[in-house]
Parts: sequence; C-alpha cells; structure tokens
Amino acid sequence: SQPLRLGIAGLGTVGAGVVKIIQQQATLLTMRTGREITISAISARTRKKDRGVDLSGYGWEDDPVALARRDDVDVYVELMGGSNGPAKASIQAALDAGKDVVTANKALLALHGQMLAEKAEAAGSVIRYEAAVAGGIPVIKALAEGLAGNKISRVMGVMNGTCNYILTRMEATGQGYNALFDEANKLGYLEADPNLDVGGIDAGHKLSLLSALAFGTQVDFDGVELEGIQRIALEDIRQAADMGYRIKLLGVAQMTDRGLEQRMSPCLVPANSPLGQLEGGTNMVVIEGDSVGQIVLRGAGAGEGPTASAVLGDICDIARGYRYPVFGQPATSLVAAQRAQSVLA
Ligand code: HSE
Repeated sequence: SQPLRLGIAGLGTVGAGVVKIIQQQATLLTMRTGREITISAISARTRKKDRGVDLSGYGWEDDPVALARRDDVDVYVELMGGSNGPAKASIQAALDAGKDVVTANKALLALHGQMLAEKAEAAGSVIRYEAAVAGGIPVIKALAEGLAGNKISRVMGVMNGTCNYILTRMEATGQGYNALFDEANKLGYLEADPNLDVGGIDAGHKLSLLSALAFGTQVDFDGVELEGIQRIALEDIRQAADMGYRIKLLGVAQMTDRGLEQRMSPCLVPANSPLGQLEGGTNMVVIEGDSVGQIVLRGAGAGEGPTASAVLGDICDIARGYRYPVFGQPATSLVAAQRAQSVLA
C-alpha cells in the first residue's frame, strides 16, 4: 500500500519528538498500521537550529499554509500552537485541500473547533487531537471509542501539569507560589503565555474539549467557569493538609437539569483519593459512565515523549484508515438541529 505522507508544522518540543519517533520506530509503525509513514516536508521558524534530529531528507516550507497545501502531503500535522494566526490559517488551508489534520492545539480547538469540524466534515476530512488533552493519556480515544456505549454523567480531572507541579512543590518545599512558578518555568512545562497555565485557561480549554465529546455538545469554552491558582497561599495549603485534603486545580464537567456545567478551579480533594495522590506534572482524568462506573486515567500530561506519543496515535489511526470524526456532534447534524430550533423559536 501507499505510504502515508506527512507535513509537519512546528519543531518545538513536540514536533521534534514526533520526528524522532517516526525516524526511530519506522518498522514498528509500519508493522502496526500496514503502511509506511513518511515525512514529505516540514515548516518551522528556522531550519538551522539543532534539535537533535536529522532533517536533511525532508522538504522545507517557510510558510505553513504552503506546507498544508502540498500535493505530497496527505496529513497535515500542526504542532505550532497558538489559537489564531498561522495555526488556524494553515489548518483551514489543509481542510480546504481535502487533507486530514492532526493537531495538539487545545487553544485553537477550544475556540474554533466547531467551525473547523464543520469544515472538515464538508471536505470529507478528519481532525484528530488526542495530544491536545492530557498529553500522553489517550483520553479522547477512551471517550470516543472504548466508552462509546455509555451515557457519561461526569468528567473530572487535573489537566494542567504546570499547576499541579507548582501546587505539589508548594506543599513539599514550603516555598511560595512565585519561587515555584520560576522553577516550573525552567522545566519547560509552561505555555508561551504562562497566564494560560496559572490562570486555569489551558486546563479550561482541555475541559471544554472533553465535555463536548462526553456529552455530545458543541465545544463551549466560554461556558467554562474559570479560576486559576495565582492566589493560593501556603496557608491555604497548610489548612487543607490539616483537614486531610490537598488543593488541586480540578476541572469538573457534568450534565444537569440546567444544562452542561463546566468548572475549572482550585478544589479541595481528599488526600487519600486518586486525585489527592497525584504528584508533580502528572495529569489525571476521571470519567463516570452509566455502564462502566468510574474509571481513572493517569499519566504524563506534557513533555516531548508523552505528547508525541499521542500525536503518533492519531497518525497511526489515519494510516489504518480509521478516520471517524472526533467531535461532540457530527457538525452537520448539529447545524440541522440548530436550524430546527430556530424555526421552532
Ligand atoms: N502547559 C501545559 C501543562 C502543557 O502544563 O499541562 C501541556 O498541555
């Protein structure tokens, strides 16, 4: 069969990690999918920087939109980040050209995912985004596939490694928020705009993607009530500990009589519960379904290997021809439902 040809945009931590896996695990990937997975071309800010990977065999585009449109690209892999600008423009260009898209871009999908899903559906393409939520934890697959037969009642989780790192280090070291923010920054977990992390926005983006999938709704980031960790004081942490609790930046999404409730905020969790035992940069997602009961998924939520692992999961699906749309609602049925509503109203 034909190789699956990728165009990769963005060679930061995640992009470089994806290239490494494709180079180092070529045999394994072909064995798993029945196809060779190749890279046709790459786009990044500069070609020169040493990223520990050999790029000499690949084409190069300065403009990610040009990369997305190339004839020798079957799947456009967007790993630049950013909720607007080149990431959005290039994904749209890829969909317009009928290509499939794999992205780790939680901010973009939280804000524009519904529009992009409709575009993809119209083009007969798919957008896959396993790496956008909880890094290496295959939670999108869990909800979309393994739990597809469940009515989901609640999704909860710790989905920002930076915040969990800062909070657990405050507990362990007795140092204040500011010192540990600097420490987290050195480890490279932080977003380009750190307020996305500590303000709870990044975790809120992820929660909005999970809840759309869990409850079959539109992605509604504006509907997430947000509170960050910036105002957590050591004293809060000590008092929580005295009562047998820990403070976690916890996301909760549940369907109620009043509709979907989504909240991302610092919460007290019992220290002996699974969420209460979560350390460092780790993520955890708890899903409750009517048939399965409660399941707990735990793993690295950020970093080169875990995030690249999730990107490869999506690429392998597409290589196998497993191209189902992964959004809360098939876009057109949603549009049809909205039309029906507006006629009734
Ligand atoms: N800044 C994010 C985090 C990276 O700390 O979890 C992964 O999305």
